[in-house]
Amino acid sequence: MEVIIKQDAAEVSSEAAALFRRQLREKPESVLGLATGSTPVGLYRRLVAMARAGEVDFSRATTFNLDEYVGLPGTHPQSYAAYMQEHLFQHIEVARWHIPDGMAADVSRHCAEYEAAIREAGGIDLQLLGLGSDGHIGFNEPGSSLGSRTRLKTLTAQTVADNAAHFASPAEVPRHVVTMGVGTILGARHCLVLALGKGKADAVAAMVEGPVTAMVPASALQMHPVCTLIVDEAAAAQLKRVEYYRWVYENKPAWQRA
Ligand code: F6R
Repeated sequence: MEVIIKQDAAEVSSEAAALFRRQLREKPESVLGLATGSTPVGLYRRLVAMARAGEVDFSRATTFNLDEYVGLPGTHPQSYAAYMQEHLFQHIEVARWHIPDGMAADVSRHCAEYEAAIREAGGIDLQLLGLGSDGHIGFNEPGSSLGSRTRLKTLTAQTVADNAAHFASPAEVPRHVVTMGVGTILGARHCLVLALGKGKADAVAAMVEGPVTAMVPASALQMHPVCTLIVDEAAAAQLKRVEYYRWVYENKPAWQRA
């Protein structure tokens, strides 16, 4: 896993945006896996600015979002469908986008169809991920099977509390989500994880330097051949091998830089 430590959120967003730009330049018809939440807001802002400046072009790209709340229609302001419209899709031209349907009548069937759609698109080239303070990726909470596929999951009380800031009260946060599984995420050709702030420092350390365990689903990314983690200084605070990560980044060959 490549660990890139940047000064602050703005630098994390621009490093991540550069990776998206390289991906789309190398393969304009890329299949992109997208995340929601607070962490990627700055990245999306940057990508929209770059698209307006003609630096990136999503018009041939296909996207698949990681997850959606069960019981919220796409018109609900806290749905991830509404989030994606607000932060990205209403500002750029994208060939095709997909978000799990939180209102699907037959959830298992919908999940199987979502998996099939990813396969039919040729698999995900670049998968963007945030990191839960409990070590989740997507909404694969601790204890999730590391081989899991898209399915219904129950959020932990901690995740409900973490996400309550976006709702009028914690009671309004849905308890269930449809999420890509850890196995689905590991199927992407390149995983890109972003983490910001001291509230993520323990989860970052467990993901990168702890044992691979279902109790920290993000630790499964240690098994992924091409995983990039970009964190700010605060989120890197509990990492032990910081000097080495900085050394690797400083000595990164020019052809590998985004
Ligand atoms: C969102 C998702 C989640 C978030 C994670 C971090 O689509 O899959 O795993 O990435 O909960 O959320 P923030 O960025 O709000 O701290």
